[in-house]
Amino acid sequence: MTLSLRVRIAGTVLTFLILAVAGTGRAQPRFEWPDRAKNLKVLPKDTPKETLQGTMIGFTRSLGVRCPFCHVGQEGQPLTTFDFVSDQKPMKQVARGMMKLVKKTNDEIRKMNVPEPKHVEVACITCHRGRPRPMTLADELALVYGSAGIDSTVARYTMLRERFYGAGAYDFTERSLNEFGTSLLQQGHPQDAIRIFQLNVEQNPNSSFAYSSLGDAYAAAGQKDLAIQSYEKAIQLDPRNRDADQKLKSLRGEGK
Ligand code: HEC
Ligand code: HEC
Repeated sequence: MTLSLRVRIAGTVLTFLILAVAGTGRAQPRFEWPDRAKNLKVLPKDTPKETLQGTMIGFTRSLGVRCPFCHVGQEGQPLTTFDFVSDQKPMKQVARGMMKLVKKTNDEIRKMNVPEPKHVEVACITCHRGRPRPMTLADELALVYGSAGIDSTVARYTMLRERFYGAGAYDFTERSLNEFGTSLLQQGHPQDAIRIFQLNVEQNPNSSFAYSSLGDAYAAAGQKDLAIQSYEKAIQLDPRNRDADQKLKSLRGEGK
């Protein structure tokens, strides 16, 4: 590339940048946090704008949502086009209720004289941990299963694991899928329970407990050979797994 060509390209890029900056500058005034908010019903009326800003950004992070979840405005549009004063969005009202709940909870905890030097402050994040509806993993899977069936349930698990693993929002140890799969088994859905327990052993390949539950589901579905294999694997992973040992013995005994 010749030097003059490079200079020309650089010049073009620069012109673009200047146009882009000038363009946004002209079209959109910057959003300013109000010095005095007009419609505060829970926060003090004279809340400084820095506190208001910190509180609102805290809400979006704690719940994993953006401003239009609670405020009138279009996702992707500049904040200057939003109506933050309006109470039209029902979630804004729910959020006010939650703010009161948080305050009451902290007042109550303070009265308890917990023998710890520093009181733990309950906040939105304590329960929400980046989700709008704080639920246990087992409860959330049961909800999806009830409305949309097993494929959607497995898809939801995969999505939640990708998005939240390590965030402390859900218990991704073998316990959650075990609890949920066992409930499917109790409700008489052994095939769906097998799907869930298979997922559990894939995700937790060293869990003896997960393999013995998979064995239970195969046994319930009448798939004896697979049940035996699962119990054997459970015992291999943990020779002290007496539950698997007993079930294995009784399955083999039946075959004689
Ligand atoms: C989870 C719901 C929720 C989210 C998300 C949220 N807000 Fe709010 N916002 C509220 C509530 C509730 C109030 C009113 C608080 C009160 O009544 O004390 C409020 C008040 C405001 C006000 C004051 C309006 C006035 O003049 O009365 C502004 C400005 C504001 N929010 C901006 C934002 C911005 C910007 C975002 C995104 C970064 C955001 N909010 C995200 C719930 C939310
Ligand atoms: C003690 C636990 C707890 C705390 C703390 C908490 N929440 Fe919640 N929140 C919940 C639960 C549980 C739900 C689900 C209620 C339901 O759907 O039955 C919920 C639901 C919500 C919803 C409705 C979401 C939806 O999609 O339906 C909003 C909005 C919300 N919370 C905002 C907040 C804000 C803002 C804070 C902090 C000021 C907060 N919450 C603090 C437990 C909590």
